[in-house]
Amino acid sequence: MTAAVRPVVHIVGLGAVGTVLAVDLLRFTNVSLVPLFRSQAKLDYFRNDCKSTFGIRKLYEENTPVYKYKIENSECPTTFPGGKISNLIVTTKTYQTKEAISPYLPYIDSNTNIILIQNGLGVLEVLRDDIFKNSSQRPHLFQGVISHGIFQDEGFIYNHAGWVGMKIARLPWTDNEMIQTSQSVQNDEQNELIGLLTQKILAKEFGIEHMSYQELLLGQLHKFLVNACMNPVTAIVDCVNGEMIDDCPPVFKSIVDECLDVLRVAYKPLFDYEETYKGKTEYPSLSVNDTLEPKQLVKDIIRVGCDLNAKNSTSMRQDTLYLRETEINYINGYIVQLAQTHNLGPNACKVNKTITELVNLRSGLNKTRAEKGDWRK
Ligand SMILES: NC(=O)c1ccc[n+]([C@@H]2O[C@H](COP(=O)([O-])OP(=O)(O)OC[C@H]3O[C@@H](n4cnc5c(N)ncnc54)[C@H](OP(=O)(O)O)[C@@H]3O)[C@@H](O)[C@H]2O)c1
Repeated sequence: MTAAVRPVVHIVGLGAVGTVLAVDLLRFTNVSLVPLFRSQAKLDYFRNDCKSTFGIRKLYEENTPVYKYKIENSECPTTFPGGKISNLIVTTKTYQTKEAISPYLPYIDSNTNIILIQNGLGVLEVLRDDIFKNSSQRPHLFQGVISHGIFQDEGFIYNHAGWVGMKIARLPWTDNEMIQTSQSVQNDEQNELIGLLTQKILAKEFGIEHMSYQELLLGQLHKFLVNACMNPVTAIVDCVNGEMIDDCPPVFKSIVDECLDVLRVAYKPLFDYEETYKGKTEYPSLSVNDTLEPKQLVKDIIRVGCDLNAKNSTSMRQDTLYLRETEINYINGYIVQLAQTHNLGPNACKVNKTITELVNLRSGLNKTRAEKGDWRK
């Protein structure tokens, strides 16, 4: 009898999202996991100070230990020994993706599987237009849209605060591949990385659902619109979510209406989907128009963002408070970029352009106050 081959998975971006997935991959599959760090200093910190160990505390489970795992192999660009990368999980922030995967491009080919697990939109365009320009050498690319909530405790120990789940799908390299049949989704279960992520126990414990791109995209756009309202507005006015519940509807309506006008052009096959694929049983059915109905969307965003999560502070507000770079260019800034790509003219994105500028103003102002003092005091 031959021993089963352990799939090797590299992960770049072992932060909050990377660690929560890495821990469950190690708990529930026989994967061999190799974290890739940004620098020798970070690798040394992981290997020496943290004893090559990371962990997750499940805050929603009572009396459970921190699930800790010690890793055999970890690398950074200068120590990477070479050899083909078969499976790569990318869990950096959106704006860090290009820099993070660039050192490993010689080891990625058309048989490599890459999954991006990030918020926002626009990384696909960066990979397609700046990195994998040659279409014959493009890897198999997948997206994970994750709704779990995780934050750092100390070092490589993170708190898993809210269990929600993760949707995954194959990303289309071109607009012609945007709509996928149910059969093609089923075929992808033979793919090593998708096969791993959809293994029964892992999929159940982590809440992983594998679906067509159009199904994922609909959920992704819904989440994107929640983020496009909640993140920048809380960052700009510096408030906790629930504080703005009575006064945010007009600005949310302006953001949602303009985002949808631009998204309808950029993702036309999705917005035409119900009409085009009605009654075609090889395609999954989808309620695009109901899910993205603007008035209902604004109500949902206020209910989920400001009411159910009233005490939360958004990640973008946290980023501005802690003087970190924000993901604004991959949220409202992405709408501005799409309007330009599709030649819609400057009026098509003026709300999102102003929102993006105001977030950058808030970030800059917080940095100036930290460096030079606060004039209000
Ligand atoms: N946290 C959540 O609850 C949550 C939920 C849903 C979605 N998301 C989304 O998931 C994505 C990841 O978020 P996160 O919260 O996990 O961020 P994070 O904790 O900041 O993790 C990002 C990791 O990427 C690493 N990194 C950055 N540049 C790198 C490079 N060049 N090479 C190697 N590693 C590099 C960072 O390492 P350094 O420390 O060295 O910079 C960090 O460990 C974001 O798009 C976020 O919006 C997060």
